[in-house]
Amino acid sequence: MDRALMERLREEIRYEFGREGPPEGFPKFPDIPGGRYTDPRFFELEQKYVWSRSWLLAGRVDDVPTPGDYMLWTDSNVPVLVVHGVDGTIRAFFNSCQHRGAPVVRESRGNNRALRCQYHSWTYDTTGKLVSVPDERDFVDLDPESRCLPQLRCEIFGGWIFVNQDPDALPLLEWLGPVATQWEGLQGDNLRTIHKKTVTIPCNWKVTVEAFQEVYHFKHIHSRGGDSGLDNRGATMGLFPHGHSRMITPLSEPAAKARGMKDCYDWQMFRSPYFAEIETVDEMTRSTSTAYSVFPNLITPLAADGFPFLIAWPIDIGTTRFDVIHYAPDWGDEESPVNSKSWRRRLEGFDVVMEEDCRNMAPMQRSLDSPGLRGIPINYQERRIWHLNEQIDRMIGIERVPEELRVPQLLEPYLER
Ligand code: FES
Repeated sequence: MDRALMERLREEIRYEFGREGPPEGFPKFPDIPGGRYTDPRFFELEQKYVWSRSWLLAGRVDDVPTPGDYMLWTDSNVPVLVVHGVDGTIRAFFNSCQHRGAPVVRESRGNNRALRCQYHSWTYDTTGKLVSVPDERDFVDLDPESRCLPQLRCEIFGGWIFVNQDPDALPLLEWLGPVATQWEGLQGDNLRTIHKKTVTIPCNWKVTVEAFQEVYHFKHIHSRGGDSGLDNRGATMGLFPHGHSRMITPLSEPAAKARGMKDCYDWQMFRSPYFAEIETVDEMTRSTSTAYSVFPNLITPLAADGFPFLIAWPIDIGTTRFDVIHYAPDWGDEESPVNSKSWRRRLEGFDVVMEEDCRNMAPMQRSLDSPGLRGIPINYQERRIWHLNEQIDRMIGIERVPEELRVPQLLEPYLER
């Protein structure tokens, strides 16, 4: 992150601490309709227009590191095959054989220069081209060129593979906008997946995502010995185009003092004695809670010594699969440090915080389903939630959203570009 932006964020934190209410002219949000979490019509609209048009994380380049490697990816509700081509390009295809629709590949991972459908052995190369059809003479006028595997958009940023079903989608870097530039110091290409955990939560996917878009809750559910480590009163939000956002939260006074900082603005290049570090991560990220949301479903609290991606996938309207994937600086040919005492303790501690965050989600879904819920009032601190919901409606097309389920578009004047 560049110095001018860090300085501006420091000033924003000062402003947030000093204000006595929302800034002059900040809009009053109407209640978010509870039906956005429970109404099957809305869920269908999200499926049709949000998930099929967004760049979604499909994995890491190191999931398919060598030419011929492939993996199945089904998180977006359609079977997709991600293939590292023999030409070195990673592509994504619908895993649907163009003969009679059998899956071309059935095993979750593998390596092959020829992708052979097991039903009648139509065979595709790693660029998706149909290269072999048994008994081809029995097909009248079969045009192999028009029977190649249908491709999806597939682009890579920082070693992360993103896939988008929409052929007209913006290029990934344009979609990510400021997120991509502000993450340059993470050196994503040099990270490796160190740990993965998945839980299934009986709640709508937005209940999960929204739990990580504010720190209003922080001192109420994450306090230890009377202190939660962060001070939500100074939290500053960056709202980016396309529904992405950033949240910088300063350390609480006791937490800052415990780290040897004069106060929460005394940002330093702390070094971890226990973990390998990404040297280029700036002092602000090392001295605050710096978290990003990538629309629609990815949240990440960054750190210099590795960090997790939290990813929520809708299974159905009231069920979410929640993946927590930790990345760490590349450990080369050494054994993965995941079983070291430091990493074990770190992951255990992280699980405790996650459990505190997730504890509310299932009961919340039941409350959202209740006739007793009148609507959801969102405050200024929680504006990233409103921003997420505005983007959902924009992607669906505002006119398509039933009027009683819409959120008005109010945050455009507050966008950071
Ligand atoms: Fe794939 Fe027939 S369905 S070869």
